[in-house]
Amino acid sequence: MGRLNDGYAPVDLDQVWASTEDSLSLAIAESGTVLVRDPLPTVDGDATQLGMLLQNLVTNAVKFRSPERAPRISLACEPDPHENLWRFAFTDNGIGIDPTYAERVFVIFQRLHPRDAYPGNGIGLAMCKKIVEFHGGTIAIDPGHTGGARITFTLPRAGAAPSVAAVVAGAVAGAVSAEPGEQR
Ligand SMILES: Nc1ncnc2c1ncn2[C@@H]1O[C@H](COP(=O)(O)OP(=O)(O)OP(=O)(O)O)[C@@H](O)[C@H]1O
Ligand SMILES: [Mg+2]
Repeated sequence: MGRLNDGYAPVDLDQVWASTEDSLSLAIAESGTVLVRDPLPTVDGDATQLGMLLQNLVTNAVKFRSPERAPRISLACEPDPHENLWRFAFTDNGIGIDPTYAERVFVIFQRLHPRDAYPGNGIGLAMCKKIVEFHGGTIAIDPGHTGGARITFTLPRAGAAPSVAAVVAGAVAGAVSAEPGEQR
């Protein structure tokens, strides 16, 4: 996968979203996926990693779509009223994630379906977790959401002082750039 960290800088998430839609345009068009989003903020971070975060989430939403309806994806975003961070909710209308597995899906190589049903290695959400934590945020499955999957995550607002947790997460985030085989 190579080196992912091309440095901390202001990252316009609207632009990241637009380029994610662009690079997945074929899959989006073929599946008839509709994407909507709130206006997205600029955060301090690594544009490459944040692009991979959105790309993994959109790819999953298209892949794990319901056979009964065209995929619909929304990314909601609002400032937390108490903390200096943004709260995001990424929602699809696909087959959903059983709350029993809400933790397991973030563990590398863990998948809920056989590979012949849905291709993949179980790396995407583990990478999403590493990326969000590297930026000082948290990520989780919303266990109460029905009718599809909802993945919530936070990112610090621009200019927010990095927390101790962010520094520690950054120190271990090197694992993101390792090849899967190197981690065992
Ligand atoms: N949007 C979603 N809807 C339903 N299930 C999902 C969704 N996203 C992830 N999952 C479940 O969580 C598992 C882990 O997701 P993850 O993205 O890590 O792996 P993957 O998509 O199977 O493989 P890879 O991302 O490496 O191609 C998936 O195999 C699937 O069972
Ligand atoms: Mg995936």
